[in-house]
Amino acid sequence: MNPPEVKHPLFARFFNRFAGLMERELGERRRELLAGLSGRVLEVGAGNGMNFRHYPATVDEVVALEPEPYLRSKAELAAREAAVKVGVGSAAAYPLPLEGESVDAAVTSLVLCTVPDPQAALAELRRVLKPGAELRFMEHVRSDRPRKARVQDWSDRSRIWPRMAGGCHCARNTVAAIEAAGFEIESVRDFGLGPSWGITYPHVIGVARA
Ligand SMILES: C[S@@+](CC[C@H](N)C(=O)[O-])C[C@H]1O[C@@H](n2cnc3c(N)ncnc32)[C@H](O)[C@@H]1O
Repeated sequence: MNPPEVKHPLFARFFNRFAGLMERELGERRRELLAGLSGRVLEVGAGNGMNFRHYPATVDEVVALEPEPYLRSKAELAAREAAVKVGVGSAAAYPLPLEGESVDAAVTSLVLCTVPDPQAALAELRRVLKPGAELRFMEHVRSDRPRKARVQDWSDRSRIWPRMAGGCHCARNTVAAIEAAGFEIESVRDFGLGPSWGITYPHVIGVARA
């Protein structure tokens, strides 16, 4: 498995600004995503580190991986401000530079839409999680409204949105992908972020077990 090179200089700068603006709406969801975690936690596609401030004190160490150089530099700054220990590394979601069964939990937030091969990413997450450990996910997913889903399919096929948004796809059924990778979904619920007519709507937040 060759690590994909991830370089999206324009999107990375846009996202860095946008993520700050979204924090009022998204901060509470990030706290919910991470609540109750403990031990050694892996976060893939950590972006500019918007989750770091929300990790609870029960976490011993966050292994945060981000392949995009500009966002990784911002994540390194955010790690210094975090209340828990955060180490930022340069790696994509697959292959993961970690031993098998070496983390107590893993986190994906707004990442499984973007990785080129979500099944490869999920297989790697499952490999490094201890048996029965939690995958916490917060992702935007394919709409169950047929008309909206058709627009999302078209958008992914046309490559317009993926090119504009750093590889993001709108039409992925991520909960089904998590199950297909062998995880057991423990909880999942929909939530809205941004306008309901938006192409990256709706979102899900949940917990799956390896
Ligand atoms: C929309 S951003 C989300 C960032 C962060 N997780 C958050 O919640 O704010 C998507 C992230 O996925 C990263 N990414 C892109 N391709 C990736 C890959 N193959 N493996 C891991 N992360 C990737 C991007 O660099 C970016 O940081």
